[in-house]
Amino acid sequence: MLVPMSTRRRFLVLLLLAGFSCFSPRLCLGEDRITFSTPINDSETLLCQSGVFRFGFFTPENSTTRLRYVGIWYDKIPIQTVVWVANKDTPINDTSGIISISNDGNLVVNDGRNRLLWSTNVKIPVAPNVTWVQLMNSGNLRLQDKSNNGEILWESFKHPYNSLLPRMELGTDARTGENLRLTSWKSYQDPSPGNYTAGLADFTFPELLVWKNNVPIWRSGPWNGQVFIGLPNTDSLLFLDGFNLNSDNQGTLSLSYTIDSFMYHFNLDPDGALYQRDWSASMRGWRIGVSIPSTTCDAYGRCGPFAICSSREVPPCKCVKGFVPKNNIEWNGGNWSNDCVRRAPLQCERQSNASDGGKEDGFLKLQKMKVPISAEQSLANENNCPKVCLDNCSCTAYAYERGIGCMIWSGSLVDMQSDLSNGIDLYIRVAHSELDTHRNRTIIIAASVLGVAFIAVVCVLLACRKLRKHPAPKKDRTAELLFKKMEALTSGNESASNQAKFKELPLFQFQVLATSTDNFSLRNKLGQGGFGPVYKGKLPEGQEIAVKRLSRASGQGLEELVNEVVVISKLQHRNLVKLLGCCIEDEERLLVYEYMPKKSLDAYLFDPLKQKILNWRTRFNIMEGICRGLLYLHRDSRLRIIHRDLKASNILLDENLIPKISDFGLARIFPGNEDEANTRRVVGTYGYMSPEYAMGGLFSEKSDVFSLGVILLEIVSGRKNSNSTLLAHAWSVWNEGEINGLIDPVIFDQVFEKEIRKCVHIGLLCVQEAANDRPSVATVCSMLSSKIADIPEPKQPAFISTNDVNNNDLKASINIVTITDVIGR
Ligand SMILES: *[C@@H]1O[C@H](CO)[C@@H](O)[C@H](O)[C@H]1NC(C)=O
Ligand SMILES: *[C@@H]1O[C@H](CO)[C@@H](O)[C@H](O)[C@H]1NC(C)=O
Ligand SMILES: *[C@@H]1O[C@H](CO)[C@@H](O)[C@H](O)[C@H]1NC(C)=O
Ligand SMILES: *[C@@H]1O[C@H](CO)[C@@H](O)[C@H](O)[C@H]1NC(C)=O
Ligand SMILES: *[C@@H]1O[C@H](CO)[C@@H](O)[C@H](O)[C@H]1NC(C)=O
Ligand SMILES: *[C@@H]1O[C@H](CO)[C@@H](O)[C@H](O)[C@H]1NC(C)=O
Ligand SMILES: *[C@@H]1O[C@H](CO)[C@@H](O)[C@H](O)[C@H]1NC(C)=O
Ligand SMILES: *[C@@H]1O[C@H](CO)[C@@H](O)[C@H](O)[C@H]1NC(C)=O
Repeated sequence: MLVPMSTRRRFLVLLLLAGFSCFSPRLCLGEDRITFSTPINDSETLLCQSGVFRFGFFTPENSTTRLRYVGIWYDKIPIQTVVWVANKDTPINDTSGIISISNDGNLVVNDGRNRLLWSTNVKIPVAPNVTWVQLMNSGNLRLQDKSNNGEILWESFKHPYNSLLPRMELGTDARTGENLRLTSWKSYQDPSPGNYTAGLADFTFPELLVWKNNVPIWRSGPWNGQVFIGLPNTDSLLFLDGFNLNSDNQGTLSLSYTIDSFMYHFNLDPDGALYQRDWSASMRGWRIGVSIPSTTCDAYGRCGPFAICSSREVPPCKCVKGFVPKNNIEWNGGNWSNDCVRRAPLQCERQSNASDGGKEDGFLKLQKMKVPISAEQSLANENNCPKVCLDNCSCTAYAYERGIGCMIWSGSLVDMQSDLSNGIDLYIRVAHSELDTHRNRTIIIAASVLGVAFIAVVCVLLACRKLRKHPAPKKDRTAELLFKKMEALTSGNESASNQAKFKELPLFQFQVLATSTDNFSLRNKLGQGGFGPVYKGKLPEGQEIAVKRLSRASGQGLEELVNEVVVISKLQHRNLVKLLGCCIEDEERLLVYEYMPKKSLDAYLFDPLKQKILNWRTRFNIMEGICRGLLYLHRDSRLRIIHRDLKASNILLDENLIPKISDFGLARIFPGNEDEANTRRVVGTYGYMSPEYAMGGLFSEKSDVFSLGVILLEIVSGRKNSNSTLLAHAWSVWNEGEINGLIDPVIFDQVFEKEIRKCVHIGLLCVQEAANDRPSVATVCSMLSSKIADIPEPKQPAFISTNDVNNNDLKASINIVTITDVIGR
């Protein structure tokens, strides 16, 4: 038995551990607070309990002056990184400064002659000896009232300077009327306030802005409930899901982010750029995750009104279709801050010459756009949004985004950018003559042809019904619904809400898809998924597609199917396969996806010849990509989708070997337990199924985590997890501490050993028997990217085999268990 160390001895050990670099015993013990009777001088500091942050006097690194400032910085790292400064305008020119609680209870900084240089400057209702100041683990410095349950009187998080730390907030505070913003330092050596600020702008729709001397130099685009839609294309996990914007009806608006580590911050640098940095222990340096602005188009108003900036094009600025440069000479000379003007006037502007019989204005659709600044809000719904704009001649554009609603613009359209991954569709009002009427006509023709074909189908169905004594009610309902939808589509009836839904998702004709896949020939078959076979196709215009022909008899109503498909088609993430459209005709249900020329991950991983193509870096990137895609499904998409059939063959690779998850959302189309007979089914694949799902039919986010863990181990080992042999092997080598035997020899390299070991470790955490022990996908992503340093020890994995499933209670119903890939392809 261990005898607990006596307090005295522990004290001595602490003293020894603290080393000899400190002069004051209080500092050595890591004091984290100042009270009325314990001020600190220039050589003393506060250390927060976790040891991450330190507070005290400092001189900026490389400074030529030796001036002393009071601030907060990261402890234990070799690069001085200051995140907050108190006396930014009033430094001390020697080491005589004192930080104390003054007679009025405030925290103050005085110089050697007892002149007041800085104060928290709040009204304190109590005696000075009942307030105290504490440096919290988050890096927040707090002044609190001991007599009133520690009420917070002042805190540094509410007085941001150059850095935004996790859990800190920017934004407006209705209570104090303040707008909290970041302010840059003058230079890297001079902490006094520079010319740049960053924070939330008080627009109709909140945006993050960077200003130089109060003139905007960058804007984020409006917040859509999840992200700012005009952010530069970024891989940063943080930007995609760490941020949160809260508002109440009283006018308080706050932006903050959470992440599992404190070695992480945003900083507004003296050059006016906003950097996100995280500490890399291996590089012993700050790693820049995001820098804003990142492209020429991020500069606010890079192109003039009615021009669009695209960083992928040279020159970057282009007038919107239907607009031309007002001053061609200037424009062609590269001065793109000039206006673009309409080529043809709007119909509504010429209503006085009523006799010219012009056609009504229309909208030009632009995709993936950072929308212009100064949107106004309309309460119109999605269907009425275009009409609201058309009805008001001063309206020049509209956009509808769920999570924001209907946005309309009047006057000039300023600061538009295209090709943004978070961008949305923007509709710009143009004269009728500028619209691509030819295309419109084809759509109408196609629609009427479809309509006619459809009426024929319905007539046949009705005829059948008359001939039969007992009609099949389900089929009739389907036909009726489809009929209604087609009618809405062809008649152009505005009120039909389904029309909008159909418009959002391209409908393919069955015949077109059949032709494109050579009548679903075996030669074109790409594979067999859990919900039906997948074929490669080529559309008449040359685009390659992947067509999934859903198995029949899903028992799903047409309405639900359409709704689900429309919703799923809206999910967009670089690690998800894009749904291009669908086809619902008669009994056929087909989904059309973008085609991935490199096929699936398993085709590489388990093929002795192709394995080499995936080196360790690539494999690691694939793991991160899968994790992000899954995180998006679980946490970010408004649907919170559980995949339920995640496996190597469902991970497709694009030409750059970027992984894309496929088949997501289909579990929603084939719901788990609604229709008694048909659907008590476990959809999934042996080897990837968590025990609670395989045996009890219970699924949760943690069952996807289990599958993810299996994939991670497969990627590291280059071996398939048949009958849990891989998990068993991984567990045994882990316990023997000899994991090299597990690693795919093709990728093994001493240099990466630590990183590979970490991935095995994370993989094992994901496949633990108890779902509660498994980390969330967010945690897995953070662990992969080293934002979490302390990874717990894994417990024994769940080894399940085909036998286990066959021998359990579900035995009776095993014939309705739909399990794909019982035998690996
Ligand atoms: C700061 O205070 C400590 C103890 O209170 C003392 O030992 C040290 O000499 C002081 N340093 C200065 C510069 O006054
Ligand atoms: C200080 O100067 C060194 C050498 O020029 C440089 O590497 C370092 O980044 C500078 N530190 C800061 C905070 O500017
Ligand atoms: C510091 O500045 C004061 C004036 O603000 C001056 O009187 C004093 O001499 C300076 N001390 C040093 C060490 O430069
Ligand atoms: C605070 O100071 C007052 C006198 O100024 C004294 O009466 C009181 O006991 C002190 N309170 C504490 C908690 O030390
Ligand atoms: C800040 O802006 C002012 C006025 O434009 C200018 O004079 C000054 O040089 C700028 N300071 C820095 C550090 O750029
Ligand atoms: C660009 O054009 C604008 C508007 O005509 C003009 O005000 C500005 O001076 C021009 N800039 C340059 C660099 O020529
Ligand atoms: C319409 O009338 C306005 C004046 O009312 C005139 O300036 C404009 O040129 C006319 N447009 C056409 C197309 O006739
Ligand atoms: C048209 O839009 C402008 C700008 O948004 C607005 O001021 C005006 O009231 C609107 N007119 C009508 C009739 O709604």
